[in-house]
Amino acid sequence: MADSSISKFFEKSLKERLDLVADFSGLSQDELKIIEDATGGISYDKADSMIENAIGTFSLPLGIATNFRINDKDYLIPMVIEESSVIAAASKAAKIARIHGGFKAKSEQSYSIGQIQIVNVDVQSAIPKVIGASTEILNLANSKSNTLSKLGKGAKEVSCKEIQTDSGHMLIVELVIDVGDAMGANVTNTMCEAVAPMIEELTGGKSLLRILSNYSTKRMASASAVFDKDAVGGENVVDDIILAFQFAENDPYRAVTHNKGVMNGTIAVANATGQDSRAIEAAAHAYAAKSGAYRSLTKWAKDANGNLIGDFELPLSVGIVGGIIQHHPIAKICTKILGVSTANELSCIMAAAGLAQNFAAMRALVTEGIQKGHMKLHARKEGKN
Ligand code: MEV
Repeated sequence: MADSSISKFFEKSLKERLDLVADFSGLSQDELKIIEDATGGISYDKADSMIENAIGTFSLPLGIATNFRINDKDYLIPMVIEESSVIAAASKAAKIARIHGGFKAKSEQSYSIGQIQIVNVDVQSAIPKVIGASTEILNLANSKSNTLSKLGKGAKEVSCKEIQTDSGHMLIVELVIDVGDAMGANVTNTMCEAVAPMIEELTGGKSLLRILSNYSTKRMASASAVFDKDAVGGENVVDDIILAFQFAENDPYRAVTHNKGVMNGTIAVANATGQDSRAIEAAAHAYAAKSGAYRSLTKWAKDANGNLIGDFELPLSVGIVGGIIQHHPIAKICTKILGVSTANELSCIMAAAGLAQNFAAMRALVTEGIQKGHMKLHARKEGKN
């Protein structure tokens, strides 16, 4: 089995790094050349077909985090990020996590939620009409995606809720759609728009918004790991990390920074694999506030042996088919480097990367401080290291 614990990756030349990654993931010479060309991966014409008013492209550093073992499989993790020390910190955290077997991660469903807002309606009498027509609504929604229907996926459930607002009561109809390995925003929006007229007819109300919810609570991902107390720096450091976590858990000013550090890991992988990072961030921060107060996205405690245990859970919608991955050669190659075969597997990696990053940040903060790591690369650039 491929081993991601490559020693001193940072000391190797570009060619040596690329050869190691190619060996690990079976990249072809053509794929290596695309990375080596360092053009950012897309042509102007491609950019122009993706967005309006394009005038060029914009590239960011792509690096590799080593040492990751997740659910007993080794990964080299591509990360796209402009900030120094993030990749070194993730690799170091993953090295410590390996001592007790690496990360255990879970992501089981890929259900997206679509919302249809119905106004000017008698909500209480409308709800049974919508629920009674669930089969017709689902059939109509599913007629919009042959691909999902063929895979046995697609719209699975219709539900209704009432919200009370300053502008009166509203009915919110929700479609739960199994989008499989796609992020699924387009298909969700298409299905919502398709069924809205039927819901208007059933309820006598007027449909307004017909759109995916980015609060993807039916696509949860989680990761946990045991960090060996000696490798962490001793039981005192473990205790201090738990105190640092308690600070974030109980103070939103600290929690935002703490969660930003978590996202340094998760979003760097999202960027490398062409995910919608805004959607991921929005969902993660909403989830951090689910108790009514904004808290830490991660939880930290000590086990009976004094080792540090970390848990991270978040709503995470990602795709490995469709979207930018079809168009961006580097996103495609990064997905190949990861060797993932499902969107759920990618979610597991992104959750593990977030947990690793958070551990590394807290360990640095409770010991030498964050600046030493940050300044290392600056010093190297200036020839002082
Ligand atoms: C910097 O990008 C991230 C940190 O501020 C996270 C944290 O404070 O936990 C170091």
